[in-house]
Amino acid sequence: MKVSTGVPGMDKLMGGGFDEGTVNLISGKTGTGKSILCSQFLYDGVMKRKQKGVYITTEETAKNIRRQVKNFGWDFETLEKKGWIRMIEFEPFDVSTLTTKMQEVIDKMDAKRVVIDSVSMFELYLTNVFEIRKALFKVIQKIREMERIGLVTAEVLEDSNSLSRFGVIEFMVDSIIVLQYLGLAKYKRSLMIRKMRMGDHSTNIHPFGISKKGIAVLR
Ligand SMILES: Nc1ncnc2c1ncn2[C@@H]1O[C@H](COP(=O)(O)OP(=O)(O)OP(=O)(O)O)[C@@H](O)[C@H]1O
Ligand SMILES: [Mg+2]
Repeated sequence: MKVSTGVPGMDKLMGGGFDEGTVNLISGKTGTGKSILCSQFLYDGVMKRKQKGVYITTEETAKNIRRQVKNFGWDFETLEKKGWIRMIEFEPFDVSTLTTKMQEVIDKMDAKRVVIDSVSMFELYLTNVFEIRKALFKVIQKIREMERIGLVTAEVLEDSNSLSRFGVIEFMVDSIIVLQYLGLAKYKRSLMIRKMRMGDHSTNIHPFGISKKGIAVLR
């Protein structure tokens, strides 16, 4: 089943949104809007679909994320108190325990949506590429198996054209959304569906904006 991305204008680019039981990668350089998109997806899920969400953060503190989303009028703190959203600060060097921990939390609160922001840190901490692959694959498989919808983010270095820092995650996920900062006078940001296993999708580059209501695709 399709689940709305929560971003105005984005669902129609993806044949209706994200698919249940998939993991979707949000890739982009720093400041392109990856964390905002993830938060918007969780917030929209709670408000419009009554679906609970888990936000696993490996870089920023939960406090920082709460503060950032509050600017858009998304009160995560209250939703956390009510049990709709759970923020988890996860130590990236602990990747082997991620799957078990995530599964426990999902089961306990019956969360439908899971964000892991970002997986780049795991790639940085693990020296053994095989271990990174194994751990990431396990966590992605678990999200699929549990029929949830996962969003994972990956940072791309400033002068790079790749989809993630170490080129591991992009082969494992079901879809990839690339966010870019263009810095043009009219269109500052763009979004592209780089891959989508489940079906037809837009292959164009779409400008998007970040306003006080969050992210919206402009055309
Ligand atoms: N309230 C707001 N209104 C408009 N734009 C905003 C607002 N808050 C943040 N932004 C823009 O969003 C950017 C940050 O977005 P976000 O934190 O999602 O980026 P990111 O891709 O997660 O970056 P990083 O890789 O560093 O974590 C800021 O640099 C700013 O340009
Ligand atoms: Mg971020």
